[in-house]
This record gives sequence, C-alpha cells and structure tokens, in this order.
Amino acid sequence: MTSNQKLINWVNEWAELCQPEKVYWCDGSEEENSRLLNEMVESGMAKKLDGKKRPGSYYFQSDPSDVARVENRTYICSTKKEDAGPTNNWADPVDMKATLRGFFKGSMKGRTMYVIPFSMGPLGSDIAHIGIELSDSPYVVVNMKVMTRMGKAVLDVLGNGKFVPCIHSVGAPLEPGQEDSKWPCAPIDSKYICHFPETNEILSYGSGYGGNALLGKKCFALRIASNMAKREGWLAEHMLIMGITNPSGVKKYIAAAFPSACGKTNLAMLVPTIPGWKVETVGDDIAWMKFGKDGQLYAINPEAGFFGVAPFTSMDTNPNAMLSARANTIFTNTGLTPDGDIWWEGIGYDAPEGTITWTQEVYDKASGKPAAHPNARFSAPASQCPVIDKEWENPAGVPISAILFGGRRPGTVPLVYQSFDWNHGVFMGSIVGSEVTAAAIGLKAGVRRDPFAMLPFCGYHMGDYFAHWVSIGEAAPDKTKLPKIFNVNWFRKSAQGKFLWPGYGENIRVLQWIFERTAGTVSAIETPIGFVPELGSINTEGLDGVEENMIELLAVDKGQWKDELDLVREQYAAFGTHLPQELVEEITAIEARFGI
Ligand code: GTP
Ligand code: SPV
Ligand code: MN
Repeated sequence: MTSNQKLINWVNEWAELCQPEKVYWCDGSEEENSRLLNEMVESGMAKKLDGKKRPGSYYFQSDPSDVARVENRTYICSTKKEDAGPTNNWADPVDMKATLRGFFKGSMKGRTMYVIPFSMGPLGSDIAHIGIELSDSPYVVVNMKVMTRMGKAVLDVLGNGKFVPCIHSVGAPLEPGQEDSKWPCAPIDSKYICHFPETNEILSYGSGYGGNALLGKKCFALRIASNMAKREGWLAEHMLIMGITNPSGVKKYIAAAFPSACGKTNLAMLVPTIPGWKVETVGDDIAWMKFGKDGQLYAINPEAGFFGVAPFTSMDTNPNAMLSARANTIFTNTGLTPDGDIWWEGIGYDAPEGTITWTQEVYDKASGKPAAHPNARFSAPASQCPVIDKEWENPAGVPISAILFGGRRPGTVPLVYQSFDWNHGVFMGSIVGSEVTAAAIGLKAGVRRDPFAMLPFCGYHMGDYFAHWVSIGEAAPDKTKLPKIFNVNWFRKSAQGKFLWPGYGENIRVLQWIFERTAGTVSAIETPIGFVPELGSINTEGLDGVEENMIELLAVDKGQWKDELDLVREQYAAFGTHLPQELVEEITAIEARFGI
C-alpha cells in the first residue's frame, strides 16, 4: 500500500518485536470499517445498536479498570528531566524505551497488528501532520476512523515523507486457545503512556480507552504537537473553536480552553437562547493556531470527530451533540437499553425497564449506581454536527478574535472578565483551576490548578510553556490584531450550593458581551483582576431568577482573591527560574491594584 521504505521497515521491526498473528494495513474504507465492527460484534466485544434508533452505531463496555486517561502512568521522556518540568511524570528516554521493549515483546501474540495511517488536520493541508499508529485493538481502528482522517489516502499524501510513529498495544497477549476478554487491557501498574518529544515518538501500553489509546488526540495533537509548536512558533491547545454571528450578520470566531469535562463540547455547539444569534462549530477539543499572512491568529481543528462526554448530554442541554451522535457513532460505557439503544444519566428521559449498566448489571435507580460511567463517551463524526461551520475543514483555519479560559469554580471567579492586554491574558491562562472531574482516574477532590487546561497535555516544562505564550504575543506581526483574552465561569455557586448561572444555551448572553467587547461596542468596569461587565450589560431578559444573582456572579472579592493569589504564588514557586518574569510582574501588579 506504500513504497515508503522507512515506514515499511518500521512496521516490520515492531511486528517482529510484538509478534502479532498478522499485520493488517488499514485502508480507511467503509467496507473495512463494517468488517471490523462485525468481527467485534461476533467476538462479543461490541453490540450493534438498533438500526432504526441508532443506524450504523455500536456499543462497547470497557474493563472497569480502564475507563479514562491515566495521568499517573503518563510520561514525558525528554533527555533532561528539567525539560519535562514539575507538572509531568518524567522518565529517561533510553531507560523507558528499554522497559517498554520488554513490555511490547510478544504483546500482540494471538492478535492482529493494525497499521493505521492518519492525518491530524485536513488531508494535505500545510498545517496538518501525519501519524501512523500501530495498534492491536480493532476498537482503536474504528475510533480513529471517526476521530481522524484515516486510511490509504493518508499514505498517498505521505509518499516518502516523515510521520509521527505511534505504537499502541492493549498489553494482553493471547496464548493459543486462550479465550479473549471482552475488553483486553493490562493492570494499572503496567500501563504506560509515553511521549518522546525530542524524536516525536509515542509509545502506549496497556490501556484501550480514549486518550490513552487514540494516539492522534492528546498524545500527538497536544503533547507532541505542543513541543513542535514551541520549536516552530505556533500554538497547540486544548481548545474548542466556534463561530458566532450576531443579529446584524457579523461573524467572529473564538477559541476556548476549559479543563476536561468542563464544557468545551457544550459551548462549541451551543444553541443560542436569544434571538438573532447563531453559533457554528469548528472543533470541540483541540486547536492548532498560527499567524496568517494578514497578521491574525488562525485556528484549525486537527480532529475529524467528537469524543464527547455522554452523561448529562441531552436534547435540552446539547441537542447538536445528540444529533451528531444520532448515527454512525461509537458509544463506550453508557447504559444499554433492551431495545438496542443507549441511555445515560441526564439524557432527558427515564431509563427503560431492563436497561443494562456499563458494568453489565440490570439498572436499578434505587441502588444509586449509575447506568453510565461518568466518563462514558460517544465518538461521533464532526461532519454530522447540524451546526458544523462551513470553514471547519479550511486548511487555512479561521481567524480568532477572542480566547476564553475557564473552569469549574464555585467561588472567587466571576462569570466573565477580560484581560487588560496579552500578557495579562497569559497570566489568566496560567491560573486556570477547576474542581476535579471524572475525565481522569485517581485525582483528589477539590480545586486543581490546570494552567491553560493543559496540565495533563503540555509536553514540556509548564514555565517554558508560559514563556512561549508570552513570546507569541511578542512575535505577533500586528499586536492590535491579537485575540482579546477572557475568563468565564459558568459554575459559580450560591452559599446554598446552587449554580447561580443557568449555563448551556444561556451562555450566549456572556458570549454576546465578549463579542461586543472585541468589537469595542460595550463598556466595562475596571477591577484589579481585569474588565468586568457593568451590572445590566449582560442581557438577562427572559431569564427567571437570574437578575438577582448578577451582583454575586460578577463580584470580585478582595479576601477571596488574596487567598487565590497566595495559591497562585505557591503554584508559581514550583516553576523556579522557568517562570517568565512577565507573569511575576502581572501577579505583583494585581496585588498592588488590590492593595494586598
Ligand atoms: P472533555 O471532552 O473531557 O474535554 O470535556 P468538555 O470540556 O468538552 O466538557 P463537556 O462539554 O462534555 O461538558 C462536561 C460536563 O459539564 C457535562 O456533564 C455538561 O453537562 C456540563 N456542562 C457543560 N456546560 C455547562 C454549563 O454551561 N453549565 C453547567 N452547569 N454545566 C455544564
Ligand atoms: C479529555 O480528557 O480532555 C478528553 C478525553 O477529551 S480523552 O481523549 O480521553 O483525553
Ligand atoms: Mn478534552
């Protein structure tokens, strides 16, 4: 299928080590996709969903130990430990490769090694990058088909060129006659998700789930790409990209970084509740951004699908996600209904009698055990999104007018505020924090600092990453065209623990203020932390019981911010000499403005 000798040699070398029963080159065709899915149905790994309710869709249950990214088993293997920084697990690349060779030896026995050529970004685009994943999981193949541009066409574009080598094994070799498990994987202590930023390589062993196994996503498009971006002067970010059109027909694009399970997919596809506004989706998770010839920052979505959190997605909260997943979708760890459909908590209707949970039990609401795992996901083609932006595959990307940061913050952080300038915006990104969610295994509850929503995804020293953001502002061909930077918080709570802001489609009201700030048509109050909306300038017309929350939603409390800034100083201390002076100046300036 290719004459790329380097690629052929590399495949042969790994096949020799992993000893699969056979090697199969994926062509990315529909026929191949159905064949693999049928094989998985036959082996008991997958269930085909009802052809009328969920055409072309399949259901999987993972092993209960393999349900999300494993951050404590994820490593950045740079020659110098310092280059991985204090926020990453580090391992010596030579030692780690030796360890992993031991694990990979014979790891694919009794299985097929799939060769999966994929492009992150539109095929053939200048911004796109090609990877080849070797995997012994057919589940990975069918997911990569949804999530990336995958198959023979990629090899044609690659020709004799270079690719990012990505090697994946579920780590469960089969001896002759041994029965396979429904979801093969290795025990937690033998899982390794390893990145070699100096040679752009990825080795992943022992997990079959999400970002651990679909190596184009977090491993490549963020951890490896963030290194490429630093070297080459661009940005690889954990951000959604969306277009917003106002009632006069003016359109602006924005990008937004929120930590995992904090609302990117929901915001990217929001259905505006105020008349005349339109939202269109470019991407829901990852943005690659570069300056265009006109001096503006342009963003592309390197992915081709949505790997979305299922629970609490409904026709009420996110109809466009529900419609994106109406067909040709892979569901993992949701509930399964007796009539061959999926169900999850918050889907908008009661579970049909006899629904099976993700752990194979009959669902019993009274037991308190959920039908869907909190990190249950759907893999749906982006092209099926009813509001997919017409520019979503434009290889030149879309021009970004505003960048948003945010997280789940029950207190301290107002509904929205704007930075004074680029470096102050970089400061805002650096202090992002959120309550812990289910998107990763084994984290302690409480607020977790997640700078730029990149804590688990930045492939090098976080302090150097901040400096890279500062340098992007300095390198801007035209500083007046840099995106304006905002922070949003849909999750502020009252003393009684109730959300003060309705969220979801109503977030358009905050986007309206942001839109108007970028157009320079609405004023704001200058506070020590940035520009905050004047009371009355966020449109709350038609919202019940929200107007009276606005004072609390927009409050900037000196005492709370003192505690916050003390914590930021603590966080900053860990970055040592890598922390850019510009950020020290920002925090000092905020403290001075508060008079602390
Ligand atoms: P990843 O795919 O893990 O990166 O997550 P994400 O950032 O795309 O988050 P997603 O949009 O899937 O939302 C995660 C959870 O947050 C879901 O349970 C949503 O229902 C909830 N959520 C999203 N937006 C809002 C909002 O505006 N308000 C409230 N209260 N909850 C929200
Ligand atoms: C996230 O955790 O941010 C995700 C899911 O998008 S995963 O692909 O598993 O990383
Ligand atoms: Mn994500």
